[in-house]
Amino acid sequence: MSEFKVFITRRLPTDLEQLQQFANVEVWEQRQPPPYEVLLEKVKEVDGLLCLLTDKIDKQLIEASDSLKVISQMAVGYDNIDIAAATERMIPVGYTPDVLTDATADFTWGLLMTSARRIVEASQFTRTGKWQTWEPDLLLGSQVTGATLGIVGLGRIGKAVAHRAQGFDMRILYTSNRCDVHLENTLGVEFVSLERLLQESDFVTIHMPLTQNNYHMFGDEQFALMKSSAVLINTARGGIIDPDALYRALSKGTIAGAAIDVTEPEPIPTDSPLLTLDNLIITPHVASASRQTREKMANMAIDNLIAGLKGDRLHDCVNSDIYH
Ligand code: GLV
Repeated sequence: MSEFKVFITRRLPTDLEQLQQFANVEVWEQRQPPPYEVLLEKVKEVDGLLCLLTDKIDKQLIEASDSLKVISQMAVGYDNIDIAAATERMIPVGYTPDVLTDATADFTWGLLMTSARRIVEASQFTRTGKWQTWEPDLLLGSQVTGATLGIVGLGRIGKAVAHRAQGFDMRILYTSNRCDVHLENTLGVEFVSLERLLQESDFVTIHMPLTQNNYHMFGDEQFALMKSSAVLINTARGGIIDPDALYRALSKGTIAGAAIDVTEPEPIPTDSPLLTLDNLIITPHVASASRQTREKMANMAIDNLIAGLKGDRLHDCVNSDIYH
């Protein structure tokens, strides 16, 4: 048995056999994440850490360990990890891009369709015995085909959403760090300012990592620019939207609806006023949760972990500058 020790912060949807041949593996078996203090103790004795987006991997934690050789996150987002602190220590940080792109775009599309056509409300209406007859104006929603979609952040997932929108003959606007002429031609998307995107879109969908620069980027001012018939979708990170401003916008009718898979904080407190709104769909951060995708994410995180233990370059590394 190898002398390597690893700690995995939750049970994973794959088998650990390959990893167990390589290292002594300890898995946190509880449903809730390990408390920070536990994590702090664990990192002091392990060579590898496989973590999730619910684990706070900050500078203090990274610096507490003399043994840590690799941090492998099972997620594409890594805003829970202090990357600069890991880089300073020359610890590679792995993540799991690409394998979750389609699952997340599919779910985004599901949220868009569900909110546009009021499917949750319609189901509730039926279940509560309110269906009396066919009515010309019952539960009218918004037409998706031919509408304008605004994509905020045209990375991997944003592009996959654009691809789906093409099948619905939508006009597609986007904002991103830069305008990509090749993409404009192949995807039929148009680069515009955020302001114009908000003013002209029927549906706005967010696809960007959470950074210090976009924290609460959606606030009162942005909602005021949107159409009163518009719907906002967020499958990125909760922190990009100011939840109080979202509540105001939805309750006053500044926008028509929203569908969010991510909240700030997570889980959303059960007394949050957002939970009282009929024009808001909230799901528990499950956009990538297809069986196939979650298994691929787990395997990828394990591969990154093993590479890091061996001192090999991680296949998917956030701070690959440490290799230069
Ligand atoms: C999920 O939100 C992820 O970042 O993979």
